[in-house]
Amino acid sequence: MTSNTSSIKKSAQTVLAPIAEDLKAVNDILAREFAHSQSPTITEIGSYITQAGGKRMRPALLMLMAKALGYSGNDHRELGATIEMLHTATLMHDDVVDEGMMRRGRPTANAKWGNSVAVLVGDFMYTRSFEMMIRIGNLRVMQALACAANTLSEGEVIQMKNAHDPSVDEARYLKVIERKTSVLFAAAAEMASALAGASKEAEEALVNYTMALGNAFQIADDILDYSGNPTESGKQIGADFEEGKVTLPVIYAMQAANEQDRAFIEKAIRDGHGDFEKISQIIQASGAIERCKVRAKMELEKGKLALDVLPSSIFKNSLIELLSFVVERKA
Ligand code: IPE
Ligand code: IPE
Ligand code: MG
Ligand code: MG
Repeated sequence: MTSNTSSIKKSAQTVLAPIAEDLKAVNDILAREFAHSQSPTITEIGSYITQAGGKRMRPALLMLMAKALGYSGNDHRELGATIEMLHTATLMHDDVVDEGMMRRGRPTANAKWGNSVAVLVGDFMYTRSFEMMIRIGNLRVMQALACAANTLSEGEVIQMKNAHDPSVDEARYLKVIERKTSVLFAAAAEMASALAGASKEAEEALVNYTMALGNAFQIADDILDYSGNPTESGKQIGADFEEGKVTLPVIYAMQAANEQDRAFIEKAIRDGHGDFEKISQIIQASGAIERCKVRAKMELEKGKLALDVLPSSIFKNSLIELLSFVVERKA
């Protein structure tokens, strides 16, 4: 992993200690899936993107939840790699759509190899994740992942259609982030429940936990786009603003702003560019970032409550700790 993730790695290391070996196995499985492609380009780009780092949040959650539910088999590792493979595919496509130039501290695949290659290698990853999931042969697992992938695409399209529209409010924002981000976390809950043969009640609670965690995670991501540090996050700042994306910091800033500042923000959203320094200053001064953190913490409360369904274990403790980790994170 690159140095940009080192600070996050340190705190994450303790939280993820109970599944450290499993996470190593996930990385080995990912490497294996790229190693034997007939296309050296796929092998090259596959290792380029997966070895650059990445927090492995989705496999970590999936494996912690499976173990917290008492699962003692080995399929959680393959499924962890499967959900990470799908996530990586979405990042490849997302960076083409968003014209993202930096991820995990490196130039994106589209920046390095061009859009066409990035889309096609993203397709390879998408379809490979489905092959991997079919190997496990569990219908509940297949249903969960297929459905999440479909909803995720819907979220990305809704978001694209919301761009440059200053009337996007918190409810419309939440609809997007639930679909593009949280639903994949919830698929991890469903997949873990399917593996462990969990009760409907436990599964529902874990879906609620992951939806809350996912919402908080994406709100934190959207905060970082205005106040983060590229060296730590491995991504550019100001990208959302340039894309005309109406994220929660902007929505709250517009609500708090005087008429003049609001008009300035609205115009910048419509135009899709503008003075980023000035927008950042307005956002900071408006208290929007603090309000976003409060809103994210509301999600954490919901998430924590949902975990009551689980018996005590080191895995449950990690799931609880991950809640605050996603909001405090810098990467
Ligand atoms: C990036 O996901 C996309 C979002 C949902 C914000 P991550 O922040 O989990 O990305 P990596 O895998 O750690 O690079
Ligand atoms: C990424 O959303 C969500 C998916 C990949 C579906 P963003 O576009 O907000 O995330 P980053 O900032 O590029 O990681
Ligand atoms: Mg993006
Ligand atoms: Mg995007």
